[in-house]
Amino acid sequence: MIKGKWKIDVTTAFITGATSGIGRAIAVALSDAGYEVYAAGRGKAALKELQAERPRIVPIAIDITDREALESVLTDLHIDVLVNNAGIMPPLGNFADMKLADIDTTLEVNLSAAILLTRLVVPQMRERQSGHIIFTGSSAAHAAFPNVAVYSATKAAIAGFAAALRADLSQYGIRVTEIVPGRVETQLYRDILDAEARAAMYAGNVAVQPEDVARMVVTLLALPASADVTRFDIMPTRPVPPSGSK
Ligand SMILES: NC(=O)c1ccc[n+]([C@@H]2O[C@H](COP(=O)([O-])OP(=O)(O)OC[C@H]3O[C@@H](n4cnc5c(N)ncnc54)[C@H](OP(=O)(O)O)[C@@H]3O)[C@@H](O)[C@H]2O)c1
Repeated sequence: MIKGKWKIDVTTAFITGATSGIGRAIAVALSDAGYEVYAAGRGKAALKELQAERPRIVPIAIDITDREALESVLTDLHIDVLVNNAGIMPPLGNFADMKLADIDTTLEVNLSAAILLTRLVVPQMRERQSGHIIFTGSSAAHAAFPNVAVYSATKAAIAGFAAALRADLSQYGIRVTEIVPGRVETQLYRDILDAEARAAMYAGNVAVQPEDVARMVVTLLALPASADVTRFDIMPTRPVPPSGSK
């Protein structure tokens, strides 16, 4: 781990949600691109597997809703690139039937943790007058879909936060990017849909792959510091069929 705020030769990236899906693909791609990668997530087995695949990656087993744990991990850790990617999809359904506990957890993981993590990292970036903060938002922030009201709200808040953060931080040379994915084939629905329903969801080549998103991230980070890709949308080329259709 690279501690302290001095100038270093490698670029470091702290990625949340790195045990699976989009975050894992970004961790692998940035490690391959020469970054020192801190891969955060709760799943210890998944972190071990990731490290076996890419031994240079530093695993960080953490629940990002645990504020004290986040603070203690981030004390003095040198971070050039922060990827606020971890997120959950609560059970799909009409908002009127949504459990209060699911509302709380979705707000905590998708929104509060990302804001807190950003607050912990921004001062060192401001001091160095450089840095890049990336958020994984969602197309659900920018278009209305039924059955995902609170998820959409968290992602719309992330979009607003990213835009306002850029207005605060670009004067310090800090770039902010909002990733806006459409359907990506990941484990996002693992707790709420069975394997068959998930397979049906991704059948017919209607999903982007996590590695495609990661390639975009590597590309935008490689641009000169004077160029800030403020947002990119990445959608399946073929239209997603309405649910229930073949
Ligand atoms: N897949 C899509 O179609 C899609 C579309 C638009 C946006 N997104 C967004 O993309 C991001 C990544 O999701 P994904 O699709 O790659 O899903 P995924 O495969 O389920 O990955 C989600 C990641 O979030 C982590 N996570 C969840 N709760 C956490 C917690 N309390 N503490 C720490 N880590 C936590 C998970 O790690 P652990 O379980 O190991 O903690 C996992 O690594 C999310 O923000 C999601 O909303 C996805």
